[in-house]
Amino acid sequence: MIVLKNIQQAQVIFKNIRTKRQTIGFVPTMGALHNAHEQIILRSKKESSVTVVSIFVNPLQFGPKEDFNKYPKPFNKDLSICKKLKVDYVFAPTIKQMYPDKIVYTNISVKKYTGILCDKFRPGHFNGVATVVTKLFNIINPTKAYFGEKDYQQLLVIKQLVKDLNFTIDIVPCETFREPDGLAFSSRNKYLSKTERNQANVIYKSLLYCKQLILTKKFSLSKCINYSKIFLNKNILLPHKIQYFEIYDNNLSPVNNDVKQIKPNTTLRIFVAVYLGKTRLIDNMPVNI
Ligand code: PAJ
Repeated sequence: MIVLKNIQQAQVIFKNIRTKRQTIGFVPTMGALHNAHEQIILRSKKESSVTVVSIFVNPLQFGPKEDFNKYPKPFNKDLSICKKLKVDYVFAPTIKQMYPDKIVYTNISVKKYTGILCDKFRPGHFNGVATVVTKLFNIINPTKAYFGEKDYQQLLVIKQLVKDLNFTIDIVPCETFREPDGLAFSSRNKYLSKTERNQANVIYKSLLYCKQLILTKKFSLSKCINYSKIFLNKNILLPHKIQYFEIYDNNLSPVNNDVKQIKPNTTLRIFVAVYLGKTRLIDNMPVNI
């Protein structure tokens, strides 16, 4: 496994790989690798000749009051996970390498999927994501890049970016991977206290509860949401706050509140963001009706 920190050096190496007609599978991460990252890396290993994992905690996608400084950075542990998985290259640039001017003069802003879900509560976040992913794509020039459905809005933003900027990169969506009790893997789960962790799977259960309500076709979507919020509030016994609980279609377009009016074979998606204590957790679940 080769660890690259220098952008110019990385560009030469990845260009050489592509010239040899080898395919590059790319897994962008912010490190603090967990089981979901591992599953995605294994998928890339299966589908490409060379797998590149980037580890970069991108300051641009954190708001001024967000957790950039305390975001976990267990770099050596991350490297040993990558080694164990036989990753070919880890690309781990410094902030100075990525943003030498400190200010970013060129900002990539995908003006779709805005004003809803995470974009509503984390203004500028997806610009930060789109900007860093564009830079990473330009440096690595992968054949395929893997993104998790856990961050569904991010996945759609990246798909749009690739379409609009004519990147010839295949964006591969990966299902959400969960702990045995249903909690979606996340680097931020590390922030949870033991008691918070014990109750965190109520978020997943509330999505299941909402899905079941929708499938009865007895209630409007807004009622399903209200009942699910009540379910969540009743079952999390620690301080928490629901930031959003919403339903869209798979394209993040609004859907008819009357389930019976929705065309059969439509896939809806339920989205939730919850502060459990100080930790913000997000999750989502598809519902085929
Ligand atoms: P990070 O949170 O480290 O996630 C890296 C990738 O793993 C993302 O595509 C994310 O959707 C996926 N992922 C995380 N938890 C998952 C889970 N439980 N199931 C399935 N996939 C999961 O997302 C980022 O980093 C950053 O925004 C990044 C794209 C690297 C840009 O900085």
